[in-house]
Amino acid sequence: MSAEAAKIVAGQIYLKPDSVLGLATGSTPLKMYETLVAVHETIGLDFSRVTTFNLDEYIGLSADNPQSYHYFMHENFFRHINIKPENIFIPDGTAENVGAEGLKYDRLIRSKGGIDLQILGIGQNAHIGFNEPDIKFEATTHKVKLDDETIKANSRFFSNVDEVPKYAISMGIKTIMLARRVVLLANGKNKSAAVYKAICGSVTPEAPASILQLHQDVTIILDRQAAADLPKKIVDVPITEIL
Ligand code: F6R
Repeated sequence: MSAEAAKIVAGQIYLKPDSVLGLATGSTPLKMYETLVAVHETIGLDFSRVTTFNLDEYIGLSADNPQSYHYFMHENFFRHINIKPENIFIPDGTAENVGAEGLKYDRLIRSKGGIDLQILGIGQNAHIGFNEPDIKFEATTHKVKLDDETIKANSRFFSNVDEVPKYAISMGIKTIMLARRVVLLANGKNKSAAVYKAICGSVTPEAPASILQLHQDVTIILDRQAAADLPKKIVDVPITEIL
């Protein structure tokens, strides 16, 4: 999964050295970042003209907080490659006015020409970014109250569940859907129900990832466990045809 994803990202950068990438945090893309770092170190994949926008950040955590997504990205990716610090964008979880920060973030993405390739993970509740199941889709970058399920799932990165922030700032569904290409990654049995909803379920804000069915260019990369609930006819398509 990670090797295929890294190949797509590397290909994007070779074809368009000044690509704008949308990036995700969490466990799922870790190995993809590791692979991209290896490609950078071994054959010189050049990030010097790349711009990145991360999907989300916890509200209340500053960039130097080890639990923040700023810190995560720096530790797991940015400090190992030759990206320019001024080309890295992550929503500011300490912004006093989160609404204004969201508008500013979407404007900034537009001003850089829009996202060429957006990498996504998926929550067990089928969230993308931190767009939690809801009765409507939130379009733009906005403040989110995290679901109890998300707080519980993410507590593995904190010393206890009470330390997990209750709010986050996340790209909205429209922000994500405006990306020219989307690659969603999922692994593990605990993602299989969400993956089923994303691919085979109705398009509904109650399963935010289902909106990707309406995107013109989505690649979904799964391991066997995450694909376990999908109909056999989807899973058995040869990988070369899917890619
Ligand atoms: C992370 C993000 C989330 C995660 C999702 C899966 O920036 O936006 O949607 O992709 O919660 O997280 P992991 O990969 O830790 O299972």
